[in-house]
Amino acid sequence: MASAKCFVFILFICLFNYVENTSLLCDANYCRTFVLETGCAATAIHCSINNATHSGIELPSPTICNCCDYCLRFFVQGEHCSVGGPGLGTTIGRCGDGLTCAVDKTDGETRCTRMTSACHTLQDEYDAREARGEVGAMEHRPMCDGKGRHAPIECIPAHTCFCQSEEGHRIFGESLYLGSNTIRHMQCGCSRFHEKIKKSLSSGLRLPVIGPRCTSDGNFNPVQCIDRTCYCVDPTTGLVQDGVKSINLDEHPITTLECYNRNLDLFPIYSEGKPPYNYTSPCLKDLKDKIELVEQSVKDGYNVDYGGGFTECYPDGTFGRSALTRTGSKVCIDDRGRQIGDYEALPGTDAFDKMDCKCAVTSYHMGASKEKPVCCKNGNFRPIQCRRGMCRCVDSDGRQTVQESASVNTLSCFTFDWKTC
Ligand SMILES: *[C@@H]1O[C@H](CO)[C@@H](O)[C@H](O)[C@H]1NC(C)=O
Ligand SMILES: *[C@@H]1O[C@H](CO)[C@@H](O)[C@H](O)[C@H]1NC(C)=O
Repeated sequence: MASAKCFVFILFICLFNYVENTSLLCDANYCRTFVLETGCAATAIHCSINNATHSGIELPSPTICNCCDYCLRFFVQGEHCSVGGPGLGTTIGRCGDGLTCAVDKTDGETRCTRMTSACHTLQDEYDAREARGEVGAMEHRPMCDGKGRHAPIECIPAHTCFCQSEEGHRIFGESLYLGSNTIRHMQCGCSRFHEKIKKSLSSGLRLPVIGPRCTSDGNFNPVQCIDRTCYCVDPTTGLVQDGVKSINLDEHPITTLECYNRNLDLFPIYSEGKPPYNYTSPCLKDLKDKIELVEQSVKDGYNVDYGGGFTECYPDGTFGRSALTRTGSKVCIDDRGRQIGDYEALPGTDAFDKMDCKCAVTSYHMGASKEKPVCCKNGNFRPIQCRRGMCRCVDSDGRQTVQESASVNTLSCFTFDWKTC
């Protein structure tokens, strides 16, 4: 158990200490002479074009000291490829994203073919429905990554994008959908990091592991601390930003960090007052206190066992998006703990048990938009949503499931009490 915790810690350190290697292996003078005397082979043009048919990746060249530029081109679907091996010559390219080099049964040649994966299957099904004109107005073609797995985000047109795991399960992180810009910037690296910690440790571990701090869109919070030292990291990669000074909380508050952004600080109260400063949240503080209590009890030779009783904090350090009120009901809250709308569920009801606030949070992200989803009283998505005279069925995440229709009662999810939930 201790080793598992250690492992994560090391992973964490590695992630934050990764420094990109420079690709030049010898001094610049050597390369200058080398290039003059030996010359460099022409590089494939693909890296500089990078369109649908001409793409590639810049890599260290397979020459002495990497003196030359090198472009490894990507083959398109159907192009000849080689799986490599001794005596098969130098690699000049590889199959592009989502493709794999496979034997074509018709002629025994190897060609780049589309990988088979769950995400690709979903894309194919979507394409087939689109060809038949059956795709709904609020559907988005599933996005897959270069290895055929689910891309980090999934978007609902005109609503929001949210993070998903490689298997396509929705995870923490949501942001207003503003087209390709959102898709580019929302990498969900932090959210997926938490997901991986959860998966690789899961049960059996006595103490929970606290991962990096995320922002509400699933990216890394630019401010990260390990023990009392705080760094600036890149929000998409989580890598420590070179040349930015770190601080020690015993002397300085996080507000003195170059990357500190007050809008992203959900708990500024911890940076106020006198040193020693902290970078924490009520949930994380609660969790840390419990962990310390257990660790102390082990040292003292007795056993405090919280069992399943550890608070689970959201990756942004909050308690989550729903909260208990003094009367025992549950309400939906935003990341700063402010109630969203008047969504509420009374204890002992079905609505209380099933409350997920996903619709309330989506509508909160959509701000002043006039086309917000209609939520149930408990903040969940109403199964039928209507927009511009057309109605559609949605799942609990708000994803359209069947094609929209102008008459509600022809929808497969129709019930007579569809308006009240
Ligand atoms: C990509 O660029 C190349 C070279 O300019 C061109 O021949 C090719 O048609 C382009 N492909 C697309 C899909 O635009
Ligand atoms: C930070 O936490 C320590 C220990 O819990 C506490 O003594 C200190 O007052 C806190 N500092 C601030 C500025 O809240």
